[in-house]
Amino acid sequence: MDTRTIRKTFIDFFTKHGHLEAPSSSLIPDEPTLLLTNSGMVQMLPYLLKQKNPPHIRMSSIQKVFRTVDIDDIGIDGRHLTFFEMLGSWSFGDYYKKDAIHLALELLVKEMEFDKEKIWVSVFKGEEPIPKDTESIKYWLDEGIPNERIVELGWKDNFWGPPGETGPCGPSTEIYYDMGEALSCGKEDCKPGCDCDRYLEVWNAGVFMEYYKDEYGKFSTLPQKNVDTGAGLERVAAFMQGKTDCFDTDLLRQVVDLVCKKLHITDYDTNPKTKRSVKIITDHSRAAVFLISDGVMPSNEHRGYILRKVLRRAMAQVSINKGQAPFFTDIIDLIVSLYSDYYPNLLTQKEHIKEVITAEELKYSKTLQSGIKNLEKIFHTKGEVSGEDIFKLQDTYGLSPEIAIDLMNGLGITFDKESIATTYESSMQTQKNRSRLGSSFTLGKIIEEQFKNFPPTVFNGYNSLVEKANVLHIDRTESAYLIITDKTPMYAESGGQAGDKGTMTFVNGIVSISNVKKTKRGVFVHIADRNDENDSAIVLPDGKTSYPIPVTIEVDEINRKRSSYNHTATHLLHWAIREVLGKDSHQKGSYLDAGKLRFDFTSHKDVSKEDISKIETLVNEKIKEHAQVDIAEMQYTDAKKEGAIGLFEEKYLDRVRTVKIGNFSFELCGGTHASNTEELGTFRILKIEPVSEGIKRIRAVLE
Ligand code: SER
Repeated sequence: MDTRTIRKTFIDFFTKHGHLEAPSSSLIPDEPTLLLTNSGMVQMLPYLLKQKNPPHIRMSSIQKVFRTVDIDDIGIDGRHLTFFEMLGSWSFGDYYKKDAIHLALELLVKEMEFDKEKIWVSVFKGEEPIPKDTESIKYWLDEGIPNERIVELGWKDNFWGPPGETGPCGPSTEIYYDMGEALSCGKEDCKPGCDCDRYLEVWNAGVFMEYYKDEYGKFSTLPQKNVDTGAGLERVAAFMQGKTDCFDTDLLRQVVDLVCKKLHITDYDTNPKTKRSVKIITDHSRAAVFLISDGVMPSNEHRGYILRKVLRRAMAQVSINKGQAPFFTDIIDLIVSLYSDYYPNLLTQKEHIKEVITAEELKYSKTLQSGIKNLEKIFHTKGEVSGEDIFKLQDTYGLSPEIAIDLMNGLGITFDKESIATTYESSMQTQKNRSRLGSSFTLGKIIEEQFKNFPPTVFNGYNSLVEKANVLHIDRTESAYLIITDKTPMYAESGGQAGDKGTMTFVNGIVSISNVKKTKRGVFVHIADRNDENDSAIVLPDGKTSYPIPVTIEVDEINRKRSSYNHTATHLLHWAIREVLGKDSHQKGSYLDAGKLRFDFTSHKDVSKEDISKIETLVNEKIKEHAQVDIAEMQYTDAKKEGAIGLFEEKYLDRVRTVKIGNFSFELCGGTHASNTEELGTFRILKIEPVSEGIKRIRAVLE
């Protein structure tokens, strides 16, 4: 069955069973914590959370997805793709495990002619705090899958989501296909879950989304039980076309063949090295075409960085194989012609895509050529390339260590990983960290590890917004500088309040700081984007300069003030919620920055429109009362005695900081605030939405 027929068979099958087809959403998701759309369920998030009514309670889609975590694996096997099409279906609080399992089997066996005898399945084995999925086992048995072909796996294989850091998730049941003993690793316990090629995953036949994972890693139950299924179209096509490699399927193989033709490659099927090169070019150019068609532009941060990264990696492979820039024009034509029947915006975007890729290519080809020339020269004169050389190439030509390694591999330059371990590995680590950052915004985890040996930063920003300080360390990644100082007036993201923005003045110029984070031990990490201004202003230690480097740090006052007002408004909101809904309502989490605030709280009863309007009115009354905001430090026991409320009381030490507004609100809090509620303006609730069972979220702004 060819790819187009598979798309149609899948959609027709689910339509026949009462599902409504949703068109693919953009690769740029609505969900702010997610870099790129990484699964079909992303556009379904409001329905899974029951925040919005779905157009239909059963839906299906073929969704464009991009998985940043797989970038480095492309070309190594035939299964990984960065961009792919995902076949998906959903039940929003309608049918559950029994029907999901039945539908999955019926589609594969009856419509797609998979051999039922070769089907294995996996179910969630149960790991604290989520119980074993015994129901799915029962339903598989009922469907005639014998016990010996049902395996139980844990978090890694059989629990899916949330797609970002928080959101809906649940145990899954997956279908594997036995490709035959010849492909087995031969180990006695070889079965689904094993890394070898014998049992290949065909379909995540059902994520049973009944949980919500919050920002503290806790699970609660969702207002409804959902089914979310997903299968990579290219993998299904490979199975159906008798291939083991996605790049050999009807559409992708045409791109592979064109790349080979253009590069005069004749040994693609027999030479693993050329195969890897061509697969990288094929996968990455298709990914770039789709990313650009959805509005992503190359840059040094976020999704623009991902696009630049895939383009540059593809270009490196083109250069290694002696291809000339501009290389991609007719490849883009082919990709558009293969996919525009299902994704018509490719046609309207075609010229734009060509312009963007060609401009990137022409800009980067000089870097690549210098990189190749220098790597070859260093290798020929010294007989080896060191980690230091790689860093020099990065400094001088902007050639990332990652591309340098790709080039060395492709040029046949051998290098001893061990001997360049310190510099090369640490740089690679930063790269990897940064791509992990890209995939899920887990910067917190990264800086925790990276800066564990620095002293806690002295924070003086409650009272002053400008300060002279010393830079103790700068880490440079491709998209950002991470700067550690001995002291700072900049507030680091904590207690639900966003980090400050501001500037850091070096002798060479002014660096814009876009955010500040801190480690659990209190090391503040100032984040500056990589751009031309920051690049030329920042002073990095070299032969002449060494740490500490003196700087002046200045907080963006307007941004700080607006965050402070939103923080005070958050306390007023907390107070008003408890006034209206009762004292058993309490805070579950919050987030605020200069523009908006959100507040999660427990409420076991429904919150009516009248309640919301009462809450809003109460907050505005308190603003108009011009209540004084008093901040104090006191003994924890005294604060408690006086009735202060706090979210994470166990975190507080002996001395605590308290924020008192008028004589009605009294909270433990480390954030920044207005000095009087009169500064706040008008408080407006934008919406209230359920987060999980018993937990609601209010989104609000000050106007
Ligand atoms: N969200 C699940 C996955 O991506 C099922 O669609 O595997």
